[in-house]
Amino acid sequence: MRSTKFFLAKNKVSNSTNSLRTVSVIGTGAYLPERVVTNDDLAKVVDTSDEWIYSRTGMRERRIAREDQATSDLATKAAMTALADAGISADEVDLLIVATLSPDMPFPSTACFVQDQIGAKNAYCYDLGAACSGSLYALETAKNQIACGAVETALIIGAEKMSSVIDWTDRNTCVLFGDGAGAMVLRATGAKRGVMKGAFGSDGSLANLLWTPGGGSRNPLTAENIDQKSQYLKMEGRDVYKHAVKQMTQSTLDALEKNGLTADDIKLFVAHQANARIIDAIAARLDVQDRMFKNVEKYANTSAAALLIAVDEVAKSGNIIPGDLLLLVAFGGGFTWGANIVEWTKS
Ligand code: ACO
Repeated sequence: MRSTKFFLAKNKVSNSTNSLRTVSVIGTGAYLPERVVTNDDLAKVVDTSDEWIYSRTGMRERRIAREDQATSDLATKAAMTALADAGISADEVDLLIVATLSPDMPFPSTACFVQDQIGAKNAYCYDLGAACSGSLYALETAKNQIACGAVETALIIGAEKMSSVIDWTDRNTCVLFGDGAGAMVLRATGAKRGVMKGAFGSDGSLANLLWTPGGGSRNPLTAENIDQKSQYLKMEGRDVYKHAVKQMTQSTLDALEKNGLTADDIKLFVAHQANARIIDAIAARLDVQDRMFKNVEKYANTSAAALLIAVDEVAKSGNIIPGDLLLLVAFGGGFTWGANIVEWTKS
């Protein structure tokens, strides 16, 4: 008797998997802090120049949050814009995910602070840690929960106060990052394809090429660790560059193949805004230079926020219409990487 019940239960699950719902983006938003810091401004703080930064990274300026703004404050502003764009109220959100590597504090999650600030009282909330790939991982996670019917409406946010986790005396890293937040609202719709099948991967054996080694249980903050500045982001730039180009190119190809598409089917490629040279190298390998979006010049690398800030800018530009396909691709610490294709459905 017991085994029959088990069989029936299993069967039910497998039936529901066959009727997954299509998930669409119904709203986007972004927030960039008001303070603009140019390359020339940075040259007053560390030994660098506009020429060095622009030629190596394509960055001209970045936004830096006020001291009294935490990551959740940036996330809240982006979330409010996305909810208004979707035309829904915060209490309609069932799931709230914040992707960040610069949380307000170790716990509780930054997502819980955002929930409180926007009044999403019916949502369950958590942070997602995949460094710069975080918002793409959040998109995949939210899509799957909506597709299987676990939730109806998800709000995903990528938010970073990178200025709080970088060493402002290290010219190798401090010139590369900026603060900001992007957000997206997702719901099941009758769209044909919506958020499609993604291709994701990780390689923890390369963690030490891009990480913040101090401040966790491995190296708790002690006077000695603080002296060694281990609470700040460390990076082997050249290695990161090589892996980022390789994995973002490959995951783009994998996502296209999984969905039975080619690069010609894509209206616009939106890559994690790490560095213009990385983005250009991917575009050249895929031969899609004319359809590769870039805004790294204005905001530098905002880590988990970058992809959703970029999608919001694309959405508000009027350059995409319902039915267009966007390919989103990201790479970050871990290493983590992935790509996904989104059928645009919002007019
Ligand atoms: N200003 C002036 N000189 C600098 C600066 C600076 N801000 N930073 C480094 N240099 C110097 C170095 O000290 C080095 O000097 P040396 O030859 O006397 O030792 C010289 O410039 C050359 O440094 P390289 O590392 O060879 O420069 P490279 O051309 O590789 O560019 C960069 C460095 C921009 C970091 C590049 O490796 C890169 O883009 N890597 C990817 C990093 C990245 O995007 N990280 C983001 C996080 S991960 C992500 O989001 C995907």
